[in-house]
Amino acid sequence: MKNISYDYGNLLRSDKIQNGITNSDFVDLSQEVAEVHLRIQQDQQLETVGFFSLPDRNVDHLIAAAKTLRERFETLVVIGIGGSALGNKALFSALLNSKNLDREVIVLDNVDPNMLHQVLSSIDLENTLFNIITKSGTTTETMALYLIILDVLKKNFPDTYKEHVVITTDPEKGFLREIIRKEKYLGFEVPDNVGGRFSVLSDVGLLSSAFAGIDIKELLRGAAAMRKRCNNDDISKNPAYLNGLNHYIYYKKGYRVSVMMPYSNDLYDLADWYRQLWAESLGKKIDDDGDFVFTGQIPVKAIGATDQHSQLQLYMEGPNDKIITFLEVEDFDNDYVIPDLFPKINEFAYLANKTLSHLLNTEKIATELALYEAGRPNCTIKFPALNEYNIGEFIFMYQVQTLFTGYLMNIDPLNQPGVEDGKKNTMALMGREGFEQMAEQVRLKIADKDKQGAKI
Ligand code: PA5
Repeated sequence: MKNISYDYGNLLRSDKIQNGITNSDFVDLSQEVAEVHLRIQQDQQLETVGFFSLPDRNVDHLIAAAKTLRERFETLVVIGIGGSALGNKALFSALLNSKNLDREVIVLDNVDPNMLHQVLSSIDLENTLFNIITKSGTTTETMALYLIILDVLKKNFPDTYKEHVVITTDPEKGFLREIIRKEKYLGFEVPDNVGGRFSVLSDVGLLSSAFAGIDIKELLRGAAAMRKRCNNDDISKNPAYLNGLNHYIYYKKGYRVSVMMPYSNDLYDLADWYRQLWAESLGKKIDDDGDFVFTGQIPVKAIGATDQHSQLQLYMEGPNDKIITFLEVEDFDNDYVIPDLFPKINEFAYLANKTLSHLLNTEKIATELALYEAGRPNCTIKFPALNEYNIGEFIFMYQVQTLFTGYLMNIDPLNQPGVEDGKKNTMALMGREGFEQMAEQVRLKIADKDKQGAKI
């Protein structure tokens, strides 16, 4: 099986990329890199960071469960948010077309009533299974959607509604685990040592994938192959460390934006998965020494060739503060030849008899060169094909890269304290028991703000 490759030539200093990385940038950080490597080795040995061992799990029980569920249902609706949703979406989108998946996976990851209406009116409820995914079992959005769906199911299938629900949550803790036990729902697990945004290769992402028809063993095989590459302490052979270090060096040089730009619509949701991973892991106020640091690099997604006619102008001529990562697919499973309908007309003739994939990849090469010549740093991750193995490799690489970069930044890439305030305010305002005093304070603060407000 061919591996994904990482080309970072356009990040190195040259007459065009004048802010580029030099050998001394690497040398200056070699001590830090060695320390981070030891820390990551320790994380694996002590199993403090659980995603490392996921590729070794026996997933036969998931495959068997998915087989039974596929016999009964046509559609699976995932109800989850953040790390309990984005990976499912990314896997399904990435492999839907190339693997001709024969079951549908829909992800409901917002409490937008129109979104719910659209999903409920598009599915055949009788043939739909709902997978409620929440590690904590307390997430407001997931709970609200779960209650609505449960009510709909109970009304439609008073005797059999439980067959339409499977729940993925913490193996021991939480209210949903209790429900699984009491009400005998089919239950799946998010291991305690696997954080939400690092959980796509656990039951969180694997059940819906196996249901869709994705070969999850192959996905894990790709992840295991990448783990081997990422355990190499020779940074020049370790794609996760190298890409993490390159991003870190540019971050230090003031490049505050990281654009991921797949030249493939199928990979667009993978760029969305990356946005959460990079943003939530690296955006931190306080470092490991307790100092205020306000770290983070803004992840942006764009899509080629579409955004050549939208974002690219900014990337070419706007502030030179972005590091761009292209995702390129070498071999598309579906392709079209552009017909030679007007051989005498210049505007058409040069396209004749070329494939669409050739055009798309040529546009990528042309854009990459244009950016390079404009002094804009960019790199490419090339997928030999859109298959489970290569997607598994990519996911694992980015999980290690994120951990590595977080450790280099001396912050905790595994927590997300910044999202707690908003969550608590919502619970207080929605009247959750135990939050009464807080609700009062929140209302007063909002009223105060409104008084000094600026509204027209
Ligand atoms: O990465 C994370 O931990 C978060 O994005 C969570 O995945 C998200 O908040 C959802 O949490 P839960 O799975 O507990 O509902």
